[in-house]
Amino acid sequence: MLVLGIESTCDETACAIVRDGKEILSNVVSSQIDLHRQFGGVVPELACRLHVEALLPVLEQALDEAKIPLEHIDLIAVAHGPGLVGALLIGVNAAKSLSYALQKPFVGVNHIEAHLYGALMGQEQWPKFPTLGIVLSGGHTSLVIMHEVGRYEVVAQTVDDAIGEAFDKVAKLLGLPYPGGPEVEKLALEGDPSTYPFKPGRVKKSPLDFSFSGLKTAVLYATKEHTNLSNSDKANICASFQETAFTDVVNKAVKAAEKYHCKALVFGGGVTNNKRLKALFAEKAPTLQTIWPPPGLSLDNAAMIAGLGYHNFIRHGPASLDLQAITRFPYWTE
Ligand code: KG4
Ligand code: ZN
Repeated sequence: MLVLGIESTCDETACAIVRDGKEILSNVVSSQIDLHRQFGGVVPELACRLHVEALLPVLEQALDEAKIPLEHIDLIAVAHGPGLVGALLIGVNAAKSLSYALQKPFVGVNHIEAHLYGALMGQEQWPKFPTLGIVLSGGHTSLVIMHEVGRYEVVAQTVDDAIGEAFDKVAKLLGLPYPGGPEVEKLALEGDPSTYPFKPGRVKKSPLDFSFSGLKTAVLYATKEHTNLSNSDKANICASFQETAFTDVVNKAVKAAEKYHCKALVFGGGVTNNKRLKALFAEKAPTLQTIWPPPGLSLDNAAMIAGLGYHNFIRHGPASLDLQAITRFPYWTE
């Protein structure tokens, strides 16, 4: 089955062609980052306009690279949330229009669930379920028991900022460009993580949940200790912040894996690009199998949408033209 994936939840316009949920024939991403960078973050209005402009050229490129004519597509899969409402509507309406014009079925895909599926796409053989899904992105921070593809239980979430958002905000405080994650990682390499004794966020009565807003405020106070922040002050702040946030993630993930009898960890979301995060898991959780997204599937992309769309279609059949863009998913539906 040839699936066309469409992704437009935030600031990437992406299309991909994937065969049978696994074999990636093309994976085209048009990023708007250069434009949003001058505003220090994503401007929703601009994002929508750029999705409209980019979608058809990106679709054409995805078909060209896969050497598949549009009429040979069997299914269209679109990320219908969570994300920015205007941005989502463009992908959702493109999928509906294509479905109607080509008389081919379409399905909606949960973008966050697709991030976890992206890691599985790189595996010859899937791990034994249940596994622990770890979502670390710009909008979400969750620990999820994956009973199988399509059946999940969320066991921990952030109560305030997402971890990627915290990286972006810390970068902004330090005058670093958007998106902040890669900048903080780079600068942290030159810093000493023990300079600032930052504390991870604790959530009363929910020991596995995350909170990053206190840590972010601690970083703000650290910046105020200096009248003029030198590069090495910034590097020490980045290293201390990153180490505190990631140690918290590793500790809670290990606890959750133990509690819910998971032997493998499946990672998703842009923050999982970070090398220090990978090193910390290798160091502190050596007995757990770790499954990271392969290159091209960690940041927002449409291959993960097409891949998971295939499974959604097999499980639930096609969506109807009533499919809505959903900015926030209250929980992961079956
Ligand atoms: O998954 P993603 O592409 O988009 C969302 O669905 O949110 O994640 C983007 C987030 C941004 O907050 C970005 O700063 C962060 O991932 N990020 C990183 C790294 N690369 C991207 N955070 C830490 N270290 C990185 N190397
Ligand atoms: Zn994402």
